[in-house]
Amino acid sequence: MRYFTGAVLAALLSTTLASAEPAEDTLVLNEETQMVTRTAAPAHISHAVDEIMSGWLFRGIETRAMQMDDFDNPGMIFVEQAQDMWDTVEGSEGKSCASCHESMDSMAGVKATYPKWNEAAGEMRTLQMQMNDCRSNRMGAEAWKYDKGPAINMEAALASVSRGMPVNVAIDGPAQSTWELGKELYYTRTGQLELSCANCHEENYGNMIRADHLSQGQINGFPVYRLKNTKLNGSHSRFKGCIRDTRAQTYSPGSAEFVALELYVASRGNGLSVEGPSIRN
Ligand code: HEC
Ligand code: HEC
Repeated sequence: MRYFTGAVLAALLSTTLASAEPAEDTLVLNEETQMVTRTAAPAHISHAVDEIMSGWLFRGIETRAMQMDDFDNPGMIFVEQAQDMWDTVEGSEGKSCASCHESMDSMAGVKATYPKWNEAAGEMRTLQMQMNDCRSNRMGAEAWKYDKGPAINMEAALASVSRGMPVNVAIDGPAQSTWELGKELYYTRTGQLELSCANCHEENYGNMIRADHLSQGQINGFPVYRLKNTKLNGSHSRFKGCIRDTRAQTYSPGSAEFVALELYVASRGNGLSVEGPSIRN
């Protein structure tokens, strides 16, 4: 068991159920794609953790099983909706995504590298920002709301064609300053509970918090279909929920802070397989 940060966290962590091991299980998708759900930590966090683990290993047996087969994965319905959207003409230019990008499969590998620096625009872009740039500037269509219906469905579809590929976001060069900001946010204690992401997801993963088995808070499985709200959830919305749980003011999905946090958290999962859309509680 890892050490507690303070009285508040100690009280939150259930003492009776503390320290349940992550599952000894392997994720093989559709009986063919072998997924990496645990591997050596990337160098930049190896001072803090030896191994990185997908949130999948911290879920119960039924939840894990749902993610093994696309027919059982309720997130795939939204992926299908996005596939239709991919071919739908919208906006003043009379184009669909397919007009320029051909099939969705041409996007294999892309999700694994986002958030990514866009040289021409001189900005760090999440996948949703990139899609919206295509919509606004190339299709003459309205931008999608961050983490909402069509945007999160399309992100899930783009994730689905990268499943099994290792997360591999760049953190150096032009990405470095954004990454540093994300790192700072990760280690900053917030709210009345004065807890940082690290207090829970780095120092206490494997412990029980209320009825929940704390994972490393990885985002290789995003977008995530949650059994709790029966829809796809974006990583920014998850960050927002976690910060709100510390009783702090939080940032909005799509904000510069959450873009930076997404880059940083994604980089802590470099080497894990892209799993989206995954299933969680
Ligand atoms: C008129 C042509 C055009 C249309 C239509 C278009 N895109 Fe793009 N898209 C591009 C170009 C060009 C790039 C490379 C742009 C850049 O680097 O800024 C790109 C880049 C992307 C990327 C990043 C690829 C990578 O390797 O990083 C994604 C994801 C993407 N588009 C998704 C979409 C989606 C989703 C739609 C439909 C909602 C769409 N695009 C519609 C032209 C288009
Ligand atoms: C009070 C403890 C606590 C704090 C602080 C906290 N979280 Fe969480 N977080 C949880 C719990 C509990 C869950 C649900 C169980 C799990 O997946 O770990 C969760 C889930 C997550 C998940 C979903 C993981 C998955 O595989 O679906 C992500 C991502 C995440 N947190 C990121 C963060 C980030 C980033 C921060 C800091 C801004 C943060 N959390 C702060 C408790 C916390």
